Amino acid sequence: MSKVYVFNDYGGPETQQLVDRPVPGPGPGELAIVVRAAGVNPADWKIREGQLGRHWSLPAPMGREAAGVITQVGYGIEDFTVGDEVLGLVAPGQGGLAEHTLLRASTTVAKPEEVSFADAATIPVAGATAYDVTHQLELEPGQTLLLLGAGGGVGLMAAQIGRVHEFTVIGVASAVKRGLVESTGAIFVESGSNLPERVREISPDGPDLIVDLVGGDALRAVADLVPDRARIISAADLDTAAELGGLALARTSEAMGKITEVIQYGLVDPHVGTQFSLDEAGQAIATVETRHAAGKIVVVP
Ligand SMILES: NC(=O)c1ccc[n+]([C@@H]2O[C@H](COP(=O)([O-])OP(=O)(O)OC[C@H]3O[C@@H](n4cnc5c(N)ncnc54)[C@H](OP(=O)(O)O)[C@@H]3O)[C@@H](O)[C@H]2O)c1
Repeated sequence: MSKVYVFNDYGGPETQQLVDRPVPGPGPGELAIVVRAAGVNPADWKIREGQLGRHWSLPAPMGREAAGVITQVGYGIEDFTVGDEVLGLVAPGQGGLAEHTLLRASTTVAKPEEVSFADAATIPVAGATAYDVTHQLELEPGQTLLLLGAGGGVGLMAAQIGRVHEFTVIGVASAVKRGLVESTGAIFVESGSNLPERVREISPDGPDLIVDLVGGDALRAVADLVPDRARIISAADLDTAAELGGLALARTSEAMGKITEVIQYGLVDPHVGTQFSLDEAGQAIATVETRHAAGKIVVVP
């Protein structure tokens, strides 16, 4: 048997539970792994709440991204073998918050030796999103990127990628995250009232691109800072971005491999914050559900 953290019904965290189930076997195109670390993301509680549809069969395993060691290889896979250390997105019906899970081989890459399992587990969702959101529209070195939610899991990696490309990055976050945001090389600006005026003090002509990882009123408040609303990309709130004339994040298949290399070469630190055990998976999700976690939250079974 193998432990897995599930939610039993759509709704609040009271529906979550650690359960035993048989070790899952891989279908065609799937890899079975023993999980060494799993990333926790806002998507985990959004799925549980039914915000992303209600098509998950219940009880639904939680956690979209994991890193571990391959124990079995499904039919039709030639690129991986038993014993390989990998990171990837979980297969349909599976969860990363588990002792064992299944990954989709098509969204799995080899874990470089230099990258710890905890760091690797932040790559498939947060890392790949940070990569895509900073590459979707072109910026030149010296141009300004305004990053809303710069102290979160995606934000800290996006800020570092921006600095690697020599963009001027203005990172918006709460006061407690000043040090974290500044450690990326970004200029810190505290979230809250008069944000547009405070950004204009730093960037009188306004940023060349807004990357939004927060949404709602926080996005509305800064939308007029860009001369063209099509220079807004949101990963957090596609409806508000569209209403404002901005773009939704477009995910690409190459992002996971690219950001893995960038992390391997030490150019980006995923900033793993607190690590929880599988018994503490509920606390890990609750920490992310506050919407104010610092960096990435990881579960290590
Ligand atoms: N579409 C995709 O493929 C995809 C993939 C990954 C993530 N996402 C989405 O992208 C967003 C960010 O993800 P994440 O993993 O970085 O989340 P996270 O770690 O929870 O970070 C979100 C950040 O938002 C800030 N925030 C929350 N409420 C705020 C407010 N009212 N005003 C200003 N800032 C506020 C928080 O910063 P402070 O604590 O400093 O306020 C926090 O650091 C989420 O909505 C997530 O669902 C989408």
